[in-house]
Amino acid sequence: MSQFLSNCSVDALATAAQSLREGSLVAFPTETVYGLGADATNAQAVARIYEVKGRPADHPLIVHIADLKYLEQWISDIPEYAIALAREFWPGPMTLILQRSELAKDFITGGQGSVGIRIPDNSLALGLLDAFHKLGGAGIAAPSANRFGQVSPTTAEAVQEELGSYLSDTDLVLDGGPSVVGVESTIIDCTGELPRILRPGAITIEMIEEVSGLKVSDSTEKKSEEVSGLKVSDSTEKKSDDFKREDIRVSGSLEIHYAPKAKVFLDQQPVYGSGFIAIKSINTPNGVIRLAAPESVEEFARVLYSALREGDHQGLSSIYIEQPIGNGLAVAIRDRLARSTQGRN
Ligand code: TXA
Ligand code: MG
Repeated sequence: MSQFLSNCSVDALATAAQSLREGSLVAFPTETVYGLGADATNAQAVARIYEVKGRPADHPLIVHIADLKYLEQWISDIPEYAIALAREFWPGPMTLILQRSELAKDFITGGQGSVGIRIPDNSLALGLLDAFHKLGGAGIAAPSANRFGQVSPTTAEAVQEELGSYLSDTDLVLDGGPSVVGVESTIIDCTGELPRILRPGAITIEMIEEVSGLKVSDSTEKKSEEVSGLKVSDSTEKKSDDFKREDIRVSGSLEIHYAPKAKVFLDQQPVYGSGFIAIKSINTPNGVIRLAAPESVEEFARVLYSALREGDHQGLSSIYIEQPIGNGLAVAIRDRLARSTQGRN
């Protein structure tokens, strides 16, 4: 059982940073979802992340840093457009995939030639990272703090529920209240001439195109390459020796993911006794349990995972969701929901 810290003073963050340096795990809030952190240069600590999550060991982890000045040590190359994106959207819900340096070992990158980096926009996360860098730490590796394939936690209680029995006495869970974004960061592959979205999130394709001035492809939206005429050609890409762009693996893009125990149905008439999530203007059908009634797409993202968890707490066998339409954050919500329907039930 881990320790649960709800009043995170500067001293408490320094203690948490020290635990990380000593090889313990620290779960912490970010603006997207809660992460399960380990010292990204400590192979044994990182191995425990995989154990606690029950995640296959070849899946790469995102390295979190507090400031752009800590980026350089992790990477060997960065295109101009990625620098522009970093300046504009960090700290924020965006992960950049860049060619790795020697510091980013196989146990972080899953043996790939690239590394994922993010500066989160959450004061507690940044406080922890600052304290960690002060102790000589280079970065905190942190996947979402859920068991593999399950719904990401957006509160410290949800982390405790997911992982509490797998964590040890020296591990910590920091409570920073509910995550404000609610879905995981946008992952952008920046190893080619053009940015490519590997996982949609709150930093949208429109925002990336505006800042980079480039046409962006979204590999998560089927046929988007054909539609935009952007078939990425291998020969035009810069690669390190051990790196091939098409080899990139994103565990979030596996079919089974983000799945509650209940079976999820999308855009269908809910049956009696099932859970229901939809934008507020849609009425609750008779005999159906309303789990969330968000007023905007932003609120939809913020409450979605806790609503799915609530359905599980209530022991519901099915949850019906009316998906938000349109671009922007709605794309990320539909992406996660499409995967959650493939899951266990
Ligand atoms: O919002 C987020 O990104 C949260 C918070 C805690 O920062 N983290 C998160 O981590 O969602 P995780 O491990 O649950 O999902 C990160 C995804 C994984 O699917 C992983 O495969 C992908 O990022 N990823 C990490 N490094 C990569 C790399 N070098 N190349 C391709 N994909 C990578
Ligand atoms: Mg995850």
